[in-house]
Amino acid sequence: MSSTQQAETQRLFFALWPDEAVRAQLARVLGKVPLKDGKRVAAENLHITLAFLGSVTADRRGCVESVAAAIRGTGFRLTLDRIGHWPKPRVLWAGSSATPVELLALVQALTEGLRRCGFKPEARPFQAHLTLARKVSHVKPGLTMEPVVWQVDRFCLVRSSTLPEGAKYEVLASWPLTETGMPDAPA
Ligand code: 2AM
Repeated sequence: MSSTQQAETQRLFFALWPDEAVRAQLARVLGKVPLKDGKRVAAENLHITLAFLGSVTADRRGCVESVAAAIRGTGFRLTLDRIGHWPKPRVLWAGSSATPVELLALVQALTEGLRRCGFKPEARPFQAHLTLARKVSHVKPGLTMEPVVWQVDRFCLVRSSTLPEGAKYEVLASWPLTETGMPDAPA
């Protein structure tokens, strides 16, 4: 590999990426949220970040993909049923009143693996959230949402690019969360 290729980086993150049916439900929720200010996330960009990696070289991307491939995760049902607002980052988000343990285990496995690839783990504890809108300074108190039930059966590595028209995300690879990944029981 040439030194130019080595130096090329991609901005990457691991995420839960909704299928079309879940995305359509989330888009409906998003459309109904009354916003006084800020900007809604484009429906095709809605996702839940599991681990943000930042700029990654080709070498490190190889390490990251091996970590993901080695994870033996279990699928889970995630019910997004609450809307929250973080005033400081000015983020309006959808979340769950009961975060599945399998989701926390997945994030922990990713974090541990990424540490072996040389990434520093996030200082803040993981809080599962799906960003609905950014630059939101004020929200009406007591916002509610129709619950969206999402059967999560895979996780993805996503590339983020910043274009003049906004963020563009591309799913580069995905790995299943199924118990079939566990070793077979002896016959
Ligand atoms: P957010 O939606 O909660 O803001 C791609 O940028 C994704 O990575 C976003 O969904 C963003 O989460 C998340 N992310 C986490 N840490 C980030 C950081 N330091 N810079 C940019 N994005 C970050």
